[in-house]
Amino acid sequence: MRETLNYRVPVEYGPMKRLVILISGRGSNLEAILGQIRAQAWPIDVVQVISNQPQAQGLAVAQSYGVACQVLSPKSFPDRDAYDQTLAQTIQAFQPDLVALAGFMRILSPAFCQVFAGRLINIHPSLLPAFKGLESHAQALESGVGFHGCTVHAVTPELDHGPILAQAVIPVFSNDTVDTLAQRVLEMEHQLYPIAIAGILSGRYVLEQGRWVDTGSSEFGGDFPRWHVHPSL
Ligand code: GRF
Repeated sequence: MRETLNYRVPVEYGPMKRLVILISGRGSNLEAILGQIRAQAWPIDVVQVISNQPQAQGLAVAQSYGVACQVLSPKSFPDRDAYDQTLAQTIQAFQPDLVALAGFMRILSPAFCQVFAGRLINIHPSLLPAFKGLESHAQALESGVGFHGCTVHAVTPELDHGPILAQAVIPVFSNDTVDTLAQRVLEMEHQLYPIAIAGILSGRYVLEQGRWVDTGSSEFGGDFPRWHVHPSL
């Protein structure tokens, strides 16, 4: 008698999409991205993680997922342009479909942004265009807003300014501190960023003439919502 085989027929996707991730520190967004790629079996290959900081904890995160990583320290370069040129060449060698900044704490030169125009994204811990730059949680508390959150956007030479792809909103409570606010935002970053990345790499969202367009079709299974709300709202 023939044995009944019980297995899942693999879904046929096209070639794996190639993702490069740039980090500087803790790497919790990196971990969320790698975790979701694995959990959702998205056909995304994180071909390289690059840190500008040798001590970045995110390097150990990459290694724990078996993802190749390297450090490119600005200390060995005379100026920003020289560093950015080598960084761009290093990334281009991996032929990425998308480059995601995940806590990469450096301003990128216009030339760098131009090389990766349309395939360079960032996550910023505020509801842009509010609270650009550093200390966005302190800025939010100081301003007295009732809602805060995070934004995934295309990177352009102007800091935290590029076209917005996705956002997640959280409530601000009267007893919030910078730390409690940061924690609640981070929880949403970890939800938002992997979905936004998969949304782009699946072909669902494309950048056209400075705006993200929903093509309505995707090479991967699943839905990729752009707008998220904290469960307490
Ligand atoms: C995150 O809050 C991200 O929004 C900001 O830098 C932080 C990076 O955290 N750009 P991690 O390294 O991903 O834990």
